Amino acid sequence: MEKLPELFENNRQWTEQMQQKHPDFFDDLAEGQSPEYLWIGCADSRVPASEIVGLTAGDMFVHRNVANVVLHTDLNCQSVLQYAVKVLKVKHVIVCGHYGCGGVTSAYEGTDLGLIDNWLQPIQDVIEKNRDKIEGIDKKKDKINRLCEINVKAQVKNVCRSPFVRKAWESGQTLSVHGWIYNLEDGLLNDLDLCISSNDEAASISEV
Ligand code: CO
Repeated sequence: MEKLPELFENNRQWTEQMQQKHPDFFDDLAEGQSPEYLWIGCADSRVPASEIVGLTAGDMFVHRNVANVVLHTDLNCQSVLQYAVKVLKVKHVIVCGHYGCGGVTSAYEGTDLGLIDNWLQPIQDVIEKNRDKIEGIDKKKDKINRLCEINVKAQVKNVCRSPFVRKAWESGQTLSVHGWIYNLEDGLLNDLDLCISSNDEAASISEV
């Protein structure tokens, strides 16, 4: 017996729609993937990566975790990054955070949620280093939203420092790293004006 029949029904309908629009869609995808983008975003259900940028299956390699964290010791994230840059040769790595991020909020409030607190420790470190940047902000919501932006910048910097990315730039590979943030309240993306395309540009990002 099929569990979650409504999702299987949705899936059948989706395959029919895709085949109506592009008869060779699945045949082409079965041949392989060559996405231009790697998306590193939050696991939050309200930020569905491909959907919000109008892309479909095959267009974007995706890594999501709580609060879009990029750690050099995270084999999962670093493997995705290496494969995307070295094998798939994506042209863009997009780090996309979102306002009102629960992970950033928990890190800010210092909640006691168990294992997830360990995961969020690097964000707590970012918050500690950037306390001066949120001091003058009145509302807690605005403070957290500013921290969400600062977290994106910190993770962009971590992507740029990855040995795979550094080597790609050294060898002349075309690759840009972008920092974006998504607004849950209107569904719009904001470009944080972080677009790094070389080791020199990466070195110029201020400390976060
Ligand atoms: Co989030």
